[in-house]
Amino acid sequence: MADLSPLPDPTSAAHSAPAPMVDPFGRTVSYLRVSVTDRCDFRCTYCMAEQMTFLPKPELLSLEELDRLVGAFITRGVRNVRLTGGEPLVRRNVMWLIESLGSRLGDGLDELTLTTNGSQLSRFAEDLYATGVRRVNVSLDTRDPDRFRKITRWGRLEQVLGGIEAAKAAGLSVKINTVALKGENEHELKDMLEWCAREGLELTFIETMPMGEIDGARSDQYLPLSEVRRRLSERYELIPSTHKTSGPARYFTVRETGQSLGFITPLTHNFCESCNRVRLTCTGRLFMCLGQDDDADLRAVLRANPHDDTPLFDAIDEAISRKPKGHDFHIGHNDKRGRGVSRRMSETGG
Ligand code: 5AD
Ligand code: SF4
Repeated sequence: MADLSPLPDPTSAAHSAPAPMVDPFGRTVSYLRVSVTDRCDFRCTYCMAEQMTFLPKPELLSLEELDRLVGAFITRGVRNVRLTGGEPLVRRNVMWLIESLGSRLGDGLDELTLTTNGSQLSRFAEDLYATGVRRVNVSLDTRDPDRFRKITRWGRLEQVLGGIEAAKAAGLSVKINTVALKGENEHELKDMLEWCAREGLELTFIETMPMGEIDGARSDQYLPLSEVRRRLSERYELIPSTHKTSGPARYFTVRETGQSLGFITPLTHNFCESCNRVRLTCTGRLFMCLGQDDDADLRAVLRANPHDDTPLFDAIDEAISRKPKGHDFHIGHNDKRGRGVSRRMSETGG
């Protein structure tokens, strides 16, 4: 009698290492950014409206659910995880999640990093180092206390500078992210560069991106980084560098100071060709592109299958098969909103 039992499926996870995630354009997804909360203790003008409504708490994944979901991505080949927000360090018990993910370092995971506004770093820097975090990105758009208050609305510069000091003292490398804002900090960018050189901090400039409704007009804030680069080049020699991280920045070495300087220019230079990332929100939605609205609801799959990750892997594969070629951001002259996406950076975590 013929044996009718099914042959083992050579692609099934039980018989081989789970396959890496490769999108329709041949890009391997190895980098996951996770927004652990949409809440923030600041209200930066380019990110949020002053009167913000946040997601209802029951919609959020628990820290255990986030841990399981991120773990599934690590199993499927994600080697870099960056936790973002909102402000990741304002989520209650977030250190539990960071410790748990930290235990995967060297076991599939190469790097665990954080993007933070720095407000809570004095409290957490040492614990972060102890869990295996080695690098943090701190958002800092100005070193002028009044302007800092104006841009962040609720932030205090002193607190963030203290946080940066604490991070350095704990042994973390710190990279500063500065959003270039027309008429706000554009005259301070050279000063920021020199301060970072003195303090041993890396620096990356970011262009404003049209994400979510804000109180003002996007075109009032938009300063192309091509212009920033041109102005800096009058004073410094910017040597294109081969330095590559898992992020989308293009790097230069500043000859006079020897420091590395990054530019993230979604609007003036398209960084999509080499995109290796996807983004997970605190409600379990997976966004395959920062600049597109298409997503996948992984929370439903996660909750419907508490003891079996196979449906989750299938849902992840299906989502990756929809990863678009690139974003569609645009900010024109007199363009109040810009053409972008309706969700804010604080939902998908930048
Ligand atoms: N455009 C550009 N950068 C933004 N950020 C937040 N919102 C925007 C936006 N609309 C920045 C933050 C932080 C990083 C995660 O993204 O300042 O540095
Ligand atoms: Fe908070 Fe960052 Fe948005 Fe500022 S840019 S409000 S620090 S999430």
